[in-house]
Amino acid sequence: MPPPYRLVRPAPAVVAPVVLDDAQRRVVEHRRGPLRVLAGPGTGKTTTLVEAVVARIEAGADPESILALTFSRRAAAELRMRIAARVGVTMREPLARTFHSYAYGLLRRAAALRGDPPPRLLSGPEQDAVIRDLLAGQAEGKGSVVWPERLAVAVTTRGFASELRDLMLRAYERGVPPRQLDEWGRRRGRDDWRAAARFMQEYADVTALAASHSVAMDPAELIRAAIDLLRTDAETVDAERARLRSVYVDEYQDSDPAQDELLALLAGDGRDLIVVGDPDQSIYAFRGASTQGILDFPERFRQADGAPAPTVALTVCRRSGAGLVDASRRVISHVSGPRRQEHRDLAPVGAYASEISVHVLTSASQEAAYIAHRLREAHLREGTPWSRMAVLVRSTSRQLAVLRRAFVSAGVPVAVNSDELPLSEQPAARALLDILDAAVPPEGEDPEQWPSHFDEALAVALLTSPLGGADALTMRRLRQQLRRAAAAAGDELSSGTLVVAALREPGDLLAVDDRAAAAALQVAGLLATARRIAAEPGATVEDVLWAVWQESGLGARWQRASLHGAPAADRDLDAVVGLFDAAARFVDRLPKVGPRAFLDHVRSQQIPADSLAAKAASGEAVRVLTAHAAKGLEWD
Ligand SMILES: Nc1ncnc2c1ncn2[C@@H]1O[C@H](COP(=O)(O)OP(=O)(O)O)[C@@H](O)[C@H]1O
Ligand SMILES: [Mg+2]
Repeated sequence: MPPPYRLVRPAPAVVAPVVLDDAQRRVVEHRRGPLRVLAGPGTGKTTTLVEAVVARIEAGADPESILALTFSRRAAAELRMRIAARVGVTMREPLARTFHSYAYGLLRRAAALRGDPPPRLLSGPEQDAVIRDLLAGQAEGKGSVVWPERLAVAVTTRGFASELRDLMLRAYERGVPPRQLDEWGRRRGRDDWRAAARFMQEYADVTALAASHSVAMDPAELIRAAIDLLRTDAETVDAERARLRSVYVDEYQDSDPAQDELLALLAGDGRDLIVVGDPDQSIYAFRGASTQGILDFPERFRQADGAPAPTVALTVCRRSGAGLVDASRRVISHVSGPRRQEHRDLAPVGAYASEISVHVLTSASQEAAYIAHRLREAHLREGTPWSRMAVLVRSTSRQLAVLRRAFVSAGVPVAVNSDELPLSEQPAARALLDILDAAVPPEGEDPEQWPSHFDEALAVALLTSPLGGADALTMRRLRQQLRRAAAAAGDELSSGTLVVAALREPGDLLAVDDRAAAAALQVAGLLATARRIAAEPGATVEDVLWAVWQESGLGARWQRASLHGAPAADRDLDAVVGLFDAAARFVDRLPKVGPRAFLDHVRSQQIPADSLAAKAASGEAVRVLTAHAAKGLEWD
């Protein structure tokens, strides 16, 4: 018998506590009842929350009786890490979680008690696929939803689908059922609202049907479903209230009305509830968050004797120097906020040099070159480690390419969290999708022919992708030799045209020496495989991708690299697993549509699909990320 192995998680290293200031100490020592902490960035809100949790546990409280909630997976992971580092034990049930994960846990437990399978969550791309599918059917007059005449041309567009999804989200968050929306539409004479109400109903029916053995749920419905459960199931609500002694919420400015309601059901009875946040840092308004929650907190969450909850302000900023604090105060003074604003009067401590400068440059590439130059200077002259610097951008997927080029040519190592990029932008997944793109003609084109959009740019992308593996030198050699061979045959075609032709008809590559030909032969082979499989009757995108992946042999290579500790290989494998996952779900849901539809679907994703865990970019590199992703993190 093989020896039994046990996976043991290393105990987290214990870090020493910081010395709290007076206001922080007041929060940690707060016992009994609701408390609101308002404070600006870097004042130690999260630190204080962590210390409060640690103090409870050290005073003998059962960790299971404490719940710390926040809004993004990243923030929850960070909170868990910081608590674990202070307590020095790993907890069985995660004590810090997102509202969504908490709500899901509740529903799953309730389902288990009833003997039902756990609810299954739809991913964002799945929701989009279902919505667009329904809309397409409705445009052809199928189903019960009739959109007003004036919207007819819009119904099948991507924009309409995303507007509709947004409307449904808002309705879920505010607890507006289809009935109510229909009623409002009737009273206001809005036939579009009424159609949307019927659509919501149809969507709910379809998603429930699609997974008949378990309840498939839109994540937006999750909080509502948990609220309904707590409202209707006395046993569950009693058990939760008996279990939870103290509840903490970090980044409370990001709550939406549904989350506030869930909180009120759990801890609105005057028990220990500490919320911390900064109304000036609300970043999720685009998905329905509203600072009303944090502003109304004292009135809504009252102490046992009926008095409004007290507020504590933290005002010592430990993250930024005087210059930065001063500038942010000037900006924020133009933004309306709560009536009392002690939390805006920050006093910086610590000797940070903080210099703010504005540079106006004329193009994106100049901008990138300038930033690369500044980073190099900071690293080489001032000795700032790469990993202590970050570049914030509006959109990682749009700006990354330019930045990456500038950084690479300036020798600046760069890292991007893989969950910052939509799946279709991750190099490994993109290479497989590009094969699909070059091999399978879009609808309306002759399936026997190559896609008409298969051009030089796509050919070069394929050749230099992880699948082709060509570098700049190989590319140059390939072009030269193809041109020479063509000229000898009396053809004066551009090297770009010849490269595309060689990938379609690898016979041309006979005239090219081995080294230059290897990458092209590899890509040509993969394209041929993709076309062969796609042409088989009933072939799904999964079949095509799988055949290409198998043939590429990259799986084994990356696995070896990953075992030798190469983070890039880990990330690439992750992206490919993510892609196959998405393909499997797509085929599951829409078995009859062809491989091309999957391509459009994945590429239309503007926002990264929720990955299972936020994968931190590690190592010595400058991070490129959006302001949303940067919140709560620190650099020099
Ligand atoms: N009392 C304290 N003494 C020293 N450093 C502190 C103290 N409180 C917080 N810090 C440090 O200040 C920084 C910002 O703290 P953090 O809790 O992340 O702020 P916030 O959540 O308000 O943005 C962290 O590096 C933290 O370690
Ligand atoms: Mg924080």
